[in-house]
Amino acid sequence: MKIKDLEFNEFISESKVLESVQSLADRISSDYSDLAPVFLPVLNGSFMFASDLIKRINVPSRVSFVKVSSYQGTNSSGQLKTLVGLDESLFNQHIIIVEDIVDTGFTLEKIINELKGLGVKSVEVVALLRKTPAREKNIFVKYVGFDIHDEFVLGYGLDYDGLGRNFKDIYKAAR
Ligand code: IMP
Repeated sequence: MKIKDLEFNEFISESKVLESVQSLADRISSDYSDLAPVFLPVLNGSFMFASDLIKRINVPSRVSFVKVSSYQGTNSSGQLKTLVGLDESLFNQHIIIVEDIVDTGFTLEKIINELKGLGVKSVEVVALLRKTPAREKNIFVKYVGFDIHDEFVLGYGLDYDGLGRNFKDIYKAAR
């Protein structure tokens, strides 16, 4: 499949994704059985993952959203353009940040710092995908679906310059 200047090949099928989502949901439901967590999906990229994950959680939960702008192109510039949606309703809550993918960990670090400033009770992260740089920097992600190399992926909510979020499988850019 070609999108703009890049060729993409299928990488993780929808059925493999959903298998992993179910097992993440099972672990979270068991860890948070008495805690009424607040899921905090990071928009836009995590909308599909968050929906599939949260409907498989079988303990009473809340959902709130935070929004950040996406990459320009295929590289993390380290620049977070916007971060909106964090407010006092999160005070004293057990927060689970829902990320589509953790690359440099810059986005996560920023959100976690702001959450701590709001006086939340606890913060953990669930990410469908984690790239090598986050592992090398020891960014702590408690619940990880797939560890991948440092490659550019798209589909299942993830975009390339705004395109491709709609695909149900995950694709990676050909080298
Ligand atoms: P980080 O701040 O470098 O960890 O980047 C995290 C954010 O960058 C994710 O939430 C995605 O929106 C975006 N991102 C990182 N890697 C990819 C990719 O391979 N494809 C599409 N978006 C990505």
